Amino acid sequence: MCGIIGYIGERDVISVLIQGLKRVEYRGYDSAGIALFGPGGLLIKKDKGKVAHLEESVNGQQIESSAGIGHTRWATHGEPNAVNAHPHTDDKNFIVLAHNGIIENYMALREELRQSGHEFTTETDTETVAHLIAEVYDGDLLEAVRRALKLVQGTYGLVVMCADKPDEIVAARLSSPLIIGHGDGENFVASDLAAFVQFTRNVTYMEDGEVALITKNKIVHKTLADKVVPKKIEKISFDIEHIEKGGYSHFMLKEITEQPRTIGDSMRGRLLSEEGTVRLGGMREKEEQFLGAKRAVFVACGTSWHAALVGEYLFEEMAGLPVEVEYASEFRYRSPVLDDKTIVFAISQSGETTDTLAAIQEAKRRVDTVFGICNVVGSSIARTTDAGVYLHAGPEIGVASTKAFTSQIVVLAMLALNLGRHRQISAAEGHRFIKELREIPRKVGTILSQSEKIEEIARQYKDHRNFLYLGRGVNFPVALEGALKLKEISYIHAEGYPAAEMKHGPIALIDDEMPVVFIAIQDGTYEKVLSNIAEVRARRGHVIAIATEGDKDIAKCVDHVFYVPETHPMLSPLLTVIPLQLLAYHVAVMRGCNVDMPRNLAKSVTVE
Ligand code: G6P
Repeated sequence: MCGIIGYIGERDVISVLIQGLKRVEYRGYDSAGIALFGPGGLLIKKDKGKVAHLEESVNGQQIESSAGIGHTRWATHGEPNAVNAHPHTDDKNFIVLAHNGIIENYMALREELRQSGHEFTTETDTETVAHLIAEVYDGDLLEAVRRALKLVQGTYGLVVMCADKPDEIVAARLSSPLIIGHGDGENFVASDLAAFVQFTRNVTYMEDGEVALITKNKIVHKTLADKVVPKKIEKISFDIEHIEKGGYSHFMLKEITEQPRTIGDSMRGRLLSEEGTVRLGGMREKEEQFLGAKRAVFVACGTSWHAALVGEYLFEEMAGLPVEVEYASEFRYRSPVLDDKTIVFAISQSGETTDTLAAIQEAKRRVDTVFGICNVVGSSIARTTDAGVYLHAGPEIGVASTKAFTSQIVVLAMLALNLGRHRQISAAEGHRFIKELREIPRKVGTILSQSEKIEEIARQYKDHRNFLYLGRGVNFPVALEGALKLKEISYIHAEGYPAAEMKHGPIALIDDEMPVVFIAIQDGTYEKVLSNIAEVRARRGHVIAIATEGDKDIAKCVDHVFYVPETHPMLSPLLTVIPLQLLAYHVAVMRGCNVDMPRNLAKSVTVE
């Protein structure tokens, strides 16, 4: 979603801001802008469309500047156009700011400010904050931001500059991440590490309810109540190659292709073959709660929610632990029944999804320990949860999640194994499971090497308007994920269903225009899935089957078959999802869609 970058120092400010904005483009946005101190005061450039467009409009402009802020906006209040794009100012062009999040009471504040003479030019909630800060400003920018924010309800990651203070940026955070980058005679602030990681790896994380004064040589962190917060600078390890395309045409293809490595990274150093179990360092402190649980609740959104569903099958099958999977957005508005023997897991690639964070807060009111499964190290969810496991999949830039999904399944499988070994699985069984797990990266590699077969299928079906994805058991969530991938990036309507449920509704849609993707591997439900395939074929639907290597018979009763290697049935989603990711990718490319930045979507959804 929206991205923020702020810079203060000796470098060319425009270039630092534009580079920073390009690094956060992947989060999804529809307009972009920058503000800086030029020789004549505050200068603002903003427009709808891409950062490249903004870059063109400032190209070649050598403007001497001490500091600046930049923003990519994903519209919430007011359409995406130049006026509503950030940064925003008050009517005297005195305060300028960029904001991620939503100001909930902006209508009331706006009305009050109007009455004291302020004139508004945009439809945004954000503009109100610029006016409010200008209204309470009394020579001290940090103080004015603090005072203004006490009147604000909502969420914010905020960077503010003031015409009076060319050497200051003030930042504030509430439920929307901000990270400060500490340089030598220069400092950075951003909503995402990627925005400044090429300049510095020394960071401090802002917490909710904090403000920070950032100058060239000094950073002061305070609470909204004006208490200084001492911070430890952390050095982050981050490989810049991970946020570059490295020769691939799209980040999504790069991320699909690197799964043999990322899956391997998620298990590295964690598998104990001899004992038939795993060692997960991040769980150690809360191991007792984990192992003593009588029930688990998984909360997540989007693709992470699909991984959670796979986790449900894994935990129930391997550890006999009852699991409920909740949409994070629904969880907080229900009355979830939780007790001290219920453990809650929040699953999130970005670690910043607002709904998931809110679900964690709700869970924390009722249970002792909330566990996290996150990819982004140091993210809000990673820091809010009491224990957990990182994916170690590396930065995921493509909006459609791929490698994070498979790593989430690997982590859930390791957790299920760990718990299962304490409850019902023998060392020999555990050992076999680990052996299969270790084989997964190689098997994913063999699937990827046949990408052109999927490309061929994509070519045949790219112009169809609807797709159905069907699977059973642990592969039912994979059907959901396959359908989600296709609709996210190719804008083709697609639905995922448990295969047998088809006859209770979706079967009405089937005719010779409908491609149906079946996950039909040889597991306990194979025969039943074959019957479901027959039902589709009887209605002239086109069947694309993902089947187990060596299953020659299936080829006779479907239009296309793509084979995946055999594995432990509970690990099969790690293989069956790969052709579905590739199918969505190829279809989207052939349709000329913007694969990495699909319309209307955001990588990290930081609004409710
Ligand atoms: C957005 C993204 C999805 C992602 C979901 C949850 O909708 O577009 O790809 O699955 O958020 O994100 P998280 O970072 O919490 O896994």
